[in-house]
Amino acid sequence: MAKRTIRDLNLKGRRVFIRVDFNVPLKGGVIGDDTRIRESLPTINYALEAGAACVILASHLGRPKGKPNPDMSLRPVAARTGELLGRAVAFAEDCIGPPAENAVLSTPPGGVVLLENLRFHAEEEKNDPGFAKGLAALCDVYVNDAFGAAHRAHASVEAIVRLVPEAGAGLLMEKELRYLGATLEHPERPFVAVLGGAKVSDKIEVIENLIPRVDKLIIGGAMAYTFFKAMGKPVGKSLVEDDKLDSARDILARAKDRELQLLLPVDHVVAPKLEAGAPTETLGVDDARIGDRLGLDIGPQTIEAYSSALGDAKTVVWNGPMGVFEIAEFAAGTMQLAAAVARVNGTTIVGGGDSIAAIKKSGVGARITHISTGGGASLEFLGGRTLPGVAVLPDA
Ligand code: 3PG
Repeated sequence: MAKRTIRDLNLKGRRVFIRVDFNVPLKGGVIGDDTRIRESLPTINYALEAGAACVILASHLGRPKGKPNPDMSLRPVAARTGELLGRAVAFAEDCIGPPAENAVLSTPPGGVVLLENLRFHAEEEKNDPGFAKGLAALCDVYVNDAFGAAHRAHASVEAIVRLVPEAGAGLLMEKELRYLGATLEHPERPFVAVLGGAKVSDKIEVIENLIPRVDKLIIGGAMAYTFFKAMGKPVGKSLVEDDKLDSARDILARAKDRELQLLLPVDHVVAPKLEAGAPTETLGVDDARIGDRLGLDIGPQTIEAYSSALGDAKTVVWNGPMGVFEIAEFAAGTMQLAAAVARVNGTTIVGGGDSIAAIKKSGVGARITHISTGGGASLEFLGGRTLPGVAVLPDA
């Protein structure tokens, strides 16, 4: 069901609390990638242009386990947000209590404040109503733009919504739900899903939810080896989840029942070790000469087969790399797949940190219809789960 959005709310003269996901990569105070900040700028600017008295931004960063940790302070994020917005962004030393209240009070009309990391308080992750009440007291209107955190039933995402006079989804949240939701419900066909990454266990729900919906399912990455072992193929020392062999068999049987095209690699790049400079060989996936080596990327025949399977696609969802693309010897599969997804003449949606990094590395980001800011959240959404941070927002 459609949710109320920021456009349905009266923001004029109000203190607007925007829960953002500014969980950006941060090392030594330097932000590695500011995409998540940029993606929430339209929502922040919308609130400012609508005449908000004050915009209060709140986010988590990292997993500080309920205690202050200077390495996970949002202070550098306040500075970057200010640069991107082209206006001063004040920083509150704490997300709750007098430091937050004073920062909000001393912000000039139409000002912006970023609160310190919500997860410096253990109550945030406990969805504590008292803590949520403290956050709610800062504002008149609540907006959730943190799609990336919508799968977490945390105080600033879930409990707070019941305690504020008015609430709605931000523009980024709306965009994420529109692309991912419409794709699952009414995809233009053929609809192809490409799933990779290390573990089948991370993707079982997604695969099960997608089997009845997609026309083709392409599988790559280390998770293919659990399928291969279940099929009796030689896997050498490749990463296999032995406790997921039954799940893999079940998925294969369900795909067969549905007469779904399920594509697995036909060849792969194997090496004795997962390291740069290791000697590599390309083998067919039935070739027992893999010995005690491990498969680390899809091979050229697979790349060709996957690229051609994407050729007529009208909707593509991609999550998870095809190999260990961080190492040059095992990068070709993921890079070529990124190029093939970018060539698709239709809607393309990419989620998951690794696939997004691969898209950026291959320079084709501008040709992807929608790059999701949610890693875990997009996977849970594609897995058919209700995201608590979305469910709690009022319906339109
Ligand atoms: C993410 O990076 O996926 C979100 O910010 C959620 O972070 P979390 O997995 O630490 O809850």
